[in-house]
Amino acid sequence: MAQIGTDCLAAKAFLEAGDVVGIPTETVYGLAGNALNPDAVLRIFTVKNRPAFDPLIVHTDTLDKVNRYVTHLPDAARQLAEAVWPGPLTLLLPKRALVPDLTTSGLPTVAIRIPNHPLTLHLLSQLDFPLAAPSANPFGYISPTTAAHVAEQLGDQIPYVLDGGPCGIGVESTIIGFEKDQPTVYRLGGMALEQLTALVGPLTVRDHSTSNPQAPGMLSSHYAPRKPVFLLDPGEQPAETDEQTGALVFTDPLPGIPLENQRILAPGGTVTEAARNLFAHLRALDQLPLARIYAQRVPPEGLGRAVNDRLKRAAAR
Ligand code: TXA
Ligand code: MG
Repeated sequence: MAQIGTDCLAAKAFLEAGDVVGIPTETVYGLAGNALNPDAVLRIFTVKNRPAFDPLIVHTDTLDKVNRYVTHLPDAARQLAEAVWPGPLTLLLPKRALVPDLTTSGLPTVAIRIPNHPLTLHLLSQLDFPLAAPSANPFGYISPTTAAHVAEQLGDQIPYVLDGGPCGIGVESTIIGFEKDQPTVYRLGGMALEQLTALVGPLTVRDHSTSNPQAPGMLSSHYAPRKPVFLLDPGEQPAETDEQTGALVFTDPLPGIPLENQRILAPGGTVTEAARNLFAHLRALDQLPLARIYAQRVPPEGLGRAVNDRLKRAAAR
């Protein structure tokens, strides 16, 4: 069973030995291994039960190091990197040969980011390799936002989870790629579109709800709890309200559904809070003896867009 602790030296020793460990980031917890070591990367895919066609994000701690792994940084990428990193933004950039094909699932680009978490930044500064880290959940399940979530699901397969407390942002990083050096959003996430637009102007947002996604993590059934999820628009009432019905609501409980079956995403009414609570609340509802979960869409602004995107995927089956 994985040990949970705050010992960066322990995490470093496991990683240097080619093993994988849970690490905190500001978005969600990652399942980390040496991104340059194909055996460690293979171990990540195995532990997560992740198909090999779904590439990993590479984490490092300085822009200088990013340049060791990519051949070219378009102007817009440099601008975003300097403004946002460390932060909840992943950039798709042309990879150098030292990044194994296994890490990028054979793609010519590598997804890379500098995460904003003090423990993980410290760990990265002590390593002479970057960390490949997908979200630390079994493939297709809800992403973890605490060390305990990681240990519950992957604890029997990994030696250590570095505990950095609950994640401050709560949804995965925003992913941006460059088409003819023009930035395009591939995944809505922890960096709000409004902020990105303020930095680099209007952005194209790719709709990934297709059966042949460019970013395979965009498969429509991602983030799914084990129970069926039905989406509600604000003000819409659920069709069923028996004791086997649960609800994930924005600010106010739904009439008719038992209160103990409901979780409030944002008691203070902000989409930022909703993002921070989303996965923990969805996970808690999934663990109750319910037959169905209703989930209310949140205002489609700021991180609310990423929340609605995850809810839509949780509801898709
Ligand atoms: O916030 C995050 O991004 C978290 C933390 C741990 O950093 N990581 C995360 O990783 O969400 P993961 O593996 O759950 O999602 C990575 C996504 C997948 O949808 C994958 O398909 C996409 O990034 N991706 C990775 N490399 C790519 C590439 N070269 N081109 C297109 N998509 C890529
Ligand atoms: Mg994931």
